[in-house]
Amino acid sequence: MLKVNGIYKAYGTQEVLKSACLEIGSEIKVLIGINGCGKSTLLKIIAGIIKSDKGNVLLREKNITHLAPEERRVGYVPQHPALFGHKSVIDNIRYGMRNGLGSEELLEDLLSMLGLNDILNKKPGELSGGYKSRVSLARALAPEPEMILLDEPLSDIDAAVKETLLPEFRRVTKLMNVPVLYVTHDPAEAEQIGDTFSVMQGGRVNDIDSANHAFEIIKKDKLISV
Ligand SMILES: Nc1ncnc2c1ncn2[C@@H]1O[C@H](COP(=O)(O)OP(=O)(O)OP(=O)(O)O)[C@@H](O)[C@H]1O
Ligand SMILES: [Mg+2]
Repeated sequence: MLKVNGIYKAYGTQEVLKSACLEIGSEIKVLIGINGCGKSTLLKIIAGIIKSDKGNVLLREKNITHLAPEERRVGYVPQHPALFGHKSVIDNIRYGMRNGLGSEELLEDLLSMLGLNDILNKKPGELSGGYKSRVSLARALAPEPEMILLDEPLSDIDAAVKETLLPEFRRVTKLMNVPVLYVTHDPAEAEQIGDTFSVMQGGRVNDIDSANHAFEIIKKDKLISV
């Protein structure tokens, strides 16, 4: 359903992505790689926030490479998502639906599955980290995207809270039945949420059989790059 073909991206003289390719069906694929290897860059290219130098992105066989972010049906939770501080929780979530995308039925399901009904009128500043993450996820999913990108969505969350959040995140993203690309540095989180796994190394992406295997490979990467 999502196909990323031969993506190249350089920042000045630094070549970050060198023919990165990736395919995702209706599964949760976890992307693993050391700091600075280009994971967020790849997600931003798929979301349309930055342009690749070469290569293309196909979603449901449609070439979306040159579409503006709002023209692609991609739900994106960036590495450090910013909610609108002056808007309530429900207004933050509805923001993504402003162009008539999504449905009231889906919104209701998301609110109840993520336990948000009691905090709809609160402002983001009044929420714990776990609830901010839930609201960011709901905001990305409410417009009913055709794929979902989650860039370390739980990296600031305590291990104990993560235990509760991970099954919720998995259940909610599975409900959408679209390709999900999920970045994490936490091996336990990767195993818990992922159906399939990929490792990014040297600007390329390779599928790998397990999260543990991916982390073994990137440990070697770290030893080399230190
Ligand atoms: N806008 C930019 N301008 C210049 N260099 C950038 C820019 N964005 C990212 N980079 C560089 O490109 C490389 C890849 O960055 P990216 O954020 O994609 O890595 P990452 O794998 O997401 O890292 P992390 O695990 O720390 O989030 C890094 O060396 C980074 O410093
Ligand atoms: Mg990143």
